[in-house]
Amino acid sequence: MAEMCSLHPKPGPSATADAATHREFYRYPQYYDVAFGYRDVVAEVDFLLQCFRHYRNRDPNTVLEIACGVGYHALEFAKRGYAVTALDLQPEMIAYLRHKAQSHGVKMDLLIADMRSFELARPVELALNLLTSFQYLLTNEDIVAHLRATCRNLAPEGLYILELNHPREYFGGSLLRPIHWTATRGDLEIEAIWGATERGLDPVAELVEVEAAYHVREGTEKRDLEERGYLRMLLPGELEALVELAGGFKLEAFYGDFDLSQPLDASERSWRMIVVLSKHEDEPARE
Ligand SMILES: C[S@@+](CC[C@H](N)C(=O)[O-])C[C@H]1O[C@@H](n2cnc3c(N)ncnc32)[C@H](O)[C@@H]1O
Repeated sequence: MAEMCSLHPKPGPSATADAATHREFYRYPQYYDVAFGYRDVVAEVDFLLQCFRHYRNRDPNTVLEIACGVGYHALEFAKRGYAVTALDLQPEMIAYLRHKAQSHGVKMDLLIADMRSFELARPVELALNLLTSFQYLLTNEDIVAHLRATCRNLAPEGLYILELNHPREYFGGSLLRPIHWTATRGDLEIEAIWGATERGLDPVAELVEVEAAYHVREGTEKRDLEERGYLRMLLPGELEALVELAGGFKLEAFYGDFDLSQPLDASERSWRMIVVLSKHEDEPARE
């Protein structure tokens, strides 16, 4: 049986966050888990901890993964014994992560929430936003609202680490050439497609229209799922200005990889944009 699902919001400045967040694509966490399971999560979590130690001289006690998806990193932190909270807009992602945490015998707090406005039961020390999910904040207003919400939910020594596209991605980089790859688990085979084209880049609205697709085979079943959505283009100077506008955070550093010795620069070794924000010491913690 072939099933086709597609959603094509209008390109350009009329895109709104709600219309443009690949919501249909993220309704299938079981596919996401297989297709995006290629990352070295253990090494990335090592880096995130090393980064916290670098700025704070100690380990964090509590970790929040924002826009967690299937929560690869949340799960790894929980397995290492940290108190973890994970948040996502998509109920299917949170239900899937709840099941995954249970099957690994670990506990975490899970929240279906919009990253532009959320309240945690208790402030956390380390917040994460990985794999360019921050770029689903399409407008300056959304970015500022999100930074303020995150800051409110951080403890006084809190750190917020973001993983964004490297700036060159918007100027002919690999984001503008959709990539195809195939991943399998058991009898589930997924051909995934992710990426934009030069035509999908709107330099005025600062949005990139990204095609996302899963072509799934499971035994004799087939399913094709295609969706277009938007990501915000963000350059370091603009991000710095928005952090300043939001208040509450100090921009500590930009790195070009999950590597404290790799600055964000134009070299090939610098291929993503890692941003470290720290909560201002004089910023009050939430009551
Ligand atoms: C590319 S996935 C990344 C998941 C995860 N960060 C990772 O590293 O695998 C993007 C996730 O962002 C979530 N998302 C998009 N907009 C959101 C919002 N406004 N608030 C919370 N989550 C959001 C989606 O539901 C999806 O699960």
